[in-house]
Amino acid sequence: MSSNVILTSSDSDKTATLPVLSGSVGPSAIDIGKLHKETGMFTYDPGFMSTASCRSAITYIDGDAGVLLYRGYPIEQLAKHSSFLETSYLLINGELPTTDEFRSFEHDVTHHSMMHESLKTFLHGFHYDAHPMAMLCGTIGSLAAFYHDTLDIEDPAQRKLAAIRLIAKIPTIAAACYRYTIGWPIRYPRNNLEYCTRFLHMMFEVPSEPLDLPEVAAKALDLLFILHADHEQNASTSTVRMVGSTGANPYACVAAGIAALWGPAHGGANEAVLKMLAEIGTPDQVGKAIERAKDKNSGFRLMGFGHRVYKNFDPRATIIREMCHKVLNALGVQDPLLDVAMKLEEAALKDPYFIERKLYPNVDFYSGLIYKALKIPTEMFTVMFAIARTSGWVAHWLEQNTTPDAKIGRPRQIYTGAPSRDYRPISGR
Ligand code: ACO
Repeated sequence: MSSNVILTSSDSDKTATLPVLSGSVGPSAIDIGKLHKETGMFTYDPGFMSTASCRSAITYIDGDAGVLLYRGYPIEQLAKHSSFLETSYLLINGELPTTDEFRSFEHDVTHHSMMHESLKTFLHGFHYDAHPMAMLCGTIGSLAAFYHDTLDIEDPAQRKLAAIRLIAKIPTIAAACYRYTIGWPIRYPRNNLEYCTRFLHMMFEVPSEPLDLPEVAAKALDLLFILHADHEQNASTSTVRMVGSTGANPYACVAAGIAALWGPAHGGANEAVLKMLAEIGTPDQVGKAIERAKDKNSGFRLMGFGHRVYKNFDPRATIIREMCHKVLNALGVQDPLLDVAMKLEEAALKDPYFIERKLYPNVDFYSGLIYKALKIPTEMFTVMFAIARTSGWVAHWLEQNTTPDAKIGRPRQIYTGAPSRDYRPISGR
């Protein structure tokens, strides 16, 4: 049933009748597209607290109920039964693949995993102690210079090829960035290995001896990648869509997404969590950390706590918390920071400050501890997130490019500067 909202401007008495749009599930939205034309007013919503920026059929979140669906499938079911590559196929294509469809997708991703040899020279241009996120962002952006003959975003076949290339090459480039910073020779991707195992080999294998990789390592990584693969219109995905709305090439769009992900309020939080846990040091210091986080003048927040959308619990955090214990046990890792994390979680969940503000552990609270157990260095944590989120970014970019009547993203503002005034020559100022 269609409905409208009537808005009257108290300034001008002009009225706008605005349609209310509904999705398949979730809240409706007032379509304010004609508001300015009809009343001369804008809406104001910095941080997009109440604004839907697009229609999308990829991911659904109910933040109050702690629900996350990829193409309708609950994250808990995908975490239990699917794999990262199958989930990537689902995000991009909308349906789970048949055996043949999956084989073909896996073949394509595997056979596009090499990076251009010239990229090695490109990597060598970075300073040896560059942050891997800086290197990843620059290198992914540079891919447009290597594949400029297939950048026609109007061509579905070229769009698909770019999507496959991005998912296939980002683990290779990520591992190469890491190895460059530690002075190890770059390892080529091995086609006989599955996606996550291949990545771990490229990270850790040395020419002098075979890599002894515990089975649980690739499984844990695959699960983490499923949980991080998409999260509707988060800051980095919205950035990809904003850049994509200009008709920019997919490598530029994903590089922009990586830049947005890097911030500590977004994907940089997993690195920040580990630094915070190390700073707290021991469980008996947790009380002090909680008090600091509650003190607005301290400038300190509990990293890995709180979420713009989840105001009950983050379903990904529940899965990761359980996995964290399993992985550490299976690898025989005794990490004192896990004790600090558990004590911090327990103390925060009992504290009225965190209860009243509905601040719960988010996906990043425990993921860093698992990465640490897998011997992934802290500065690579956000890179890991970027590898997984590339599937989501690419799915949104593909969806955006098949949306009829898509418009360039161009918000307006409330101007707070000087009104019109006359230029004065420098001698008269
Ligand atoms: N520690 C202490 N206080 C917090 C925290 C925190 N982690 N998060 C929010 N608050 C407080 C705020 O100070 C504010 O208090 P007030 O109402 O008294 O002013 C209230 O809770 C609401 O916070 P906002 O910043 O308005 O909430 P918003 O939805 O804008 O921010 C965010 C969400 C950015 C995730 C925030 O909770 C945060 O900074 N968390 C820590 C960083 C983090 O873990 N980021 C990862 C997010 S998940 C992801 O990107 C994968």
